[in-house]
Amino acid sequence: RTRSIVRGVGSYLPRRVVSNRDLEKFVETSHEWIVQRTGIETRHIAADDETTSVLGIKAAEAALANAGMTPADIDLIVCATSTPDYTFPSTATMIQAGLGMHHGAAFDLQAVCTGFVYAVATADKFLASGSHKRALVIGAETFSRILDWEDRTTCVLFGDGAGAIILEAQEGEGTSADRGVLTSHLRSDGRYREKLYVDGGPGSTKTTGVLKMEGKEVFRFAVGSVTDVVRDAFDATGTTAEDLAWFVPHQANKRIITASADKLGIAPEKVVITVDRHGNTSAASIPLALDAACKDGRIKQGDLVMIEAIGGGFTWGSALIRW
Ligand code: ACO
Repeated sequence: RTRSIVRGVGSYLPRRVVSNRDLEKFVETSHEWIVQRTGIETRHIAADDETTSVLGIKAAEAALANAGMTPADIDLIVCATSTPDYTFPSTATMIQAGLGMHHGAAFDLQAVCTGFVYAVATADKFLASGSHKRALVIGAETFSRILDWEDRTTCVLFGDGAGAIILEAQEGEGTSADRGVLTSHLRSDGRYREKLYVDGGPGSTKTTGVLKMEGKEVFRFAVGSVTDVVRDAFDATGTTAEDLAWFVPHQANKRIITASADKLGIAPEKVVITVDRHGNTSAASIPLALDAACKDGRIKQGDLVMIEAIGGGFTWGSALIRW
């Protein structure tokens, strides 16, 4: 069968770093509370000129450079985002234009924090079908623009950024036969809309709106759902937690990450954590974490890497990748 092999990875973070101490100056919170409940210490916050597409273009350029490719090599762009520059056109076509690319197809995909897992699964299926050869799979977000900066229960949790990987279709014959996206498992259940949503949009208030969350409910749902889809990925491939080299979960909260890894029997030293430095960057968090772990030499070719996420909807999912 055709496999989608990871050929490159890249990311980009806004210039401005905001610490918990900075947040203490305008909301009733403390560095200690935020670290204890979430593990977050700093996050990057976009300036006005750092829109989602701008971050996405820079992450895409970094991934292309990492792969030794140019936009001419790409024929598909899938961008996961819930914070597009405009209602339309898609952020993906803006990234396409920003790369100087006028061929191929580009579209956005919206599954909130699970967006990158959905995007990997979608691009993998495009490549497996034979319709496309090389996909830029991007997660890019500026959640700072949909936060109520007076609501301490949400504004301390999120950050901005973008990450990208390049997937290339390769026939399952030959040396790289066991590499690539081995399986993916996507779930959603729209009954949970009110647990985590943005209270605006063209069909409601006609404004952008701000993020609303019942944190405790999300937390409770997160650990169970995420462990279910990770087990689905293990079952589908006949692998176990022991076989994993790296567990790269959506970075929402350190407590959710460690509780999930613990429940799955994944050793703490295999868990990649960037939430301390990035906060929750929604669909960008996994590719940002993948890039960090590739750059510092942790993720190497041949490693078995599990990605998973849960987000608004609810949506949740996993993908198992042989790097
Ligand atoms: N600083 C100080 N105190 C605060 C803050 C803050 N930033 N926010 C809330 N508090 C207070 C509350 O008002 C409450 O005070 P009270 O007891 O006087 O009423 C107290 O702290 C405890 O609040 P809880 O909400 O019960 O705190 P909890 O331990 O549940 O932690 C948190 C809150 C961190 C939001 C947690 O529920 C959580 O992490 N949930 C998951 C959220 C998440 O990860 N969402 C994203 C996942 S999906 C996605 O990525 C889109």
